[in-house]
Amino acid sequence: MKRTLVTIGASYAGVQLAASARELGFDGSILLLGDEPDAPYQRPPLSKGFLTGSVAAERLPLRAQAFFDEERIQWMPSTRAVAIDRERRQVELHDGTRVDYDHLALTTGARVRKLDCPGATLAAVHYLRDLRDARRLADTARSARRAVVIGGGYIGLEAAASLRQKGVDVSVVETEQRLLARVASPWVSDFILQAHREHGVRFEFGRKVVRLRDTHDMHDMVSVELEDGTCLLCDLVVVGIGVIPNTELAADCGLKVAGGIAVDTCARTSDPSIVAAGDCASFVPHWAPEGAPACRIESVQNANDMARKAASTLVGRAEPYRALPWFWSDQYDLKLQMAGVNAGFTGFAVRGRVEERKFSLFYFRDDMLIAVDSINRPQDHMLARKLLANRVRISAQQAGDPAFDLKVLANRSEAVAPRTA
Ligand code: APR
Repeated sequence: MKRTLVTIGASYAGVQLAASARELGFDGSILLLGDEPDAPYQRPPLSKGFLTGSVAAERLPLRAQAFFDEERIQWMPSTRAVAIDRERRQVELHDGTRVDYDHLALTTGARVRKLDCPGATLAAVHYLRDLRDARRLADTARSARRAVVIGGGYIGLEAAASLRQKGVDVSVVETEQRLLARVASPWVSDFILQAHREHGVRFEFGRKVVRLRDTHDMHDMVSVELEDGTCLLCDLVVVGIGVIPNTELAADCGLKVAGGIAVDTCARTSDPSIVAAGDCASFVPHWAPEGAPACRIESVQNANDMARKAASTLVGRAEPYRALPWFWSDQYDLKLQMAGVNAGFTGFAVRGRVEERKFSLFYFRDDMLIAVDSINRPQDHMLARKLLANRVRISAQQAGDPAFDLKVLANRSEAVAPRTA
């Protein structure tokens, strides 16, 4: 009898997992449950081109409907899974229907962390995670004059850049002392800060928003009040203060949850017949130092690569997830691309020309290359991914030397090293 794979969550990880299962020869039914009404779509443009208007909604779908038809992947829109019955191997849907599964994959993703202060639910307050948020924000941004962005992470900064490009006046409030503190080196934080300042963005660091207030008397303006009494007037508030993994379904059916749905290196949850992948899954990455705690990785790369491994596990060909993490962000004319993880770096080398805004930072832990951040140097980024994936030895002096041929080194390593992805 044909078996059924049910995937809960129809974004990057869910779509990739379904596609990979087919590619790996899974011949049963595949149900892809998504609680959003829109066909699975790309999220990164939502804070960038979609907001500025350069990317139309028609360009967002991850795959054409023909793909789902040809691969016999039954994508079910506006379908919310509300419970998992592991004993009966059934998923209960929002309308009470139950669907049977033989294999279950959790690709439930994450939701925005909401601002939690008086006034947080005013109509001027926007988030940016799904297409509905993005449509509403793009609509408001058409007539907005002044925006306050809360959170200086990727979402906040990309929104700030997009709004500036639309002529909106922007201030950013960040609780930490620097931008992108969770993910970027201080050097990159500083570079990005200068770029935003040059575009006229103002910053308030090290302070919290304590209240939002409708001013009533001033044309729909909202006052954003900080803990030191500063008040920022605006007609648009964009909040980008991080995300929370969607783990409730997993926790409620007794799966282990620890900061995310706990999985092993092959994406198996504490019930080995159920896999999880993407933003919702927490694991100890292969690059983490000995004894490091489990963590979640929020990126398109992680969703796709981990989903591939989860699919292998489901079809009985489990192999450990060892892909190199990489990430990108576009702000103004800056393409920032990151490969590897620079946590704990002890030194770095600069390749290229900072004054031309085309350079890469090669981070070393002792004499080991651990990460590379590139600004407007896409070729460095691609080569860095090969160097890092293949653990190629390169010195800081070589990395910083414009005459040193990175391409030869990277391609040579590619030819001799086993694939680690
Ligand atoms: N007020 C101001 N700033 C805050 C507050 C607050 N109350 N709470 C958190 N912050 C700051 C954090 O210090 C951090 O710099 O908000 C920023 C949030 O950054 P991220 O955690 O990177 O989250 P965000 O930018 O919302 O991105 C969410 O979308 O693009 C993806 O990879 C990205 O997965 C991430 C997700």
